[in-house]
Amino acid sequence: MGKIHVFDHPLIQHKLSMIRDKNTGTKEFRELVDEIASLMAFEATRDLPLEEVTVETPVATAKAKVIAGKKLGLIPILRAGLGMVDGILKLIPAAKVGHIGLYRDPETLKPVEYYVKLPSDVEEREFIVLDPMLATGGSAVAAITSLKNRGAKHIKLMCVIAAPEGVEAVQKEHPDVDIFIAGLDEKLNDHGYIVPGLGDAGDRLFGTK
Ligand code: PRP
Ligand code: URA
Repeated sequence: MGKIHVFDHPLIQHKLSMIRDKNTGTKEFRELVDEIASLMAFEATRDLPLEEVTVETPVATAKAKVIAGKKLGLIPILRAGLGMVDGILKLIPAAKVGHIGLYRDPETLKPVEYYVKLPSDVEEREFIVLDPMLATGGSAVAAITSLKNRGAKHIKLMCVIAAPEGVEAVQKEHPDVDIFIAGLDEKLNDHGYIVPGLGDAGDRLFGTK
């Protein structure tokens, strides 16, 4: 079973409270999601393997450590996942970025895939799928299935807020995938929105309604 990591770091919790607030405007919302994604990436990449190298400092030769050639790929689920990309690229600028376009049919709440573009070396990469909201879990499950069908073997999922239903769905369909979240909320409402959540993440990020 994939592990669930809920980040209770005070910086993440503080910023999470600010994006929940309905009075937080688009500019601030976007900046906060970016910052939360950076802070989460710091923790979610804790298990990256290191290798020893030799570095000449101005004073002497040092044995130092660098990340051991692990190839990372970020996969934002369009559109709201885009809000998490830049914050992670600030820490991991060499990561490649693939995109999976999904929208949730408002009637059935089922995900509809409309776009997929991935790095060419899918089998060798470790992927982090990004989406601020894990509600029913349909979108995340479909994105991970889509990645696996194209050869991906190592996948993590990073979301800002999750509902228990979404966590359960991902764990059931993809037990090999670890899930990283900042907030685990109470439930979904009748429209599939996370309660208390933060509303529609895509609309709040891009100023649409
Ligand atoms: C939202 C959100 C997730 C999905 C979560 O996207 O960004 O992708 O819903 O819901 P689920 O877990 O029930 O699938 P939406 O479909 O609103 O598209 P958008 O990002 O383009 O606004
Ligand atoms: N998508 C969102 O953007 N918000 C929710 O609460 C659920 C799905």
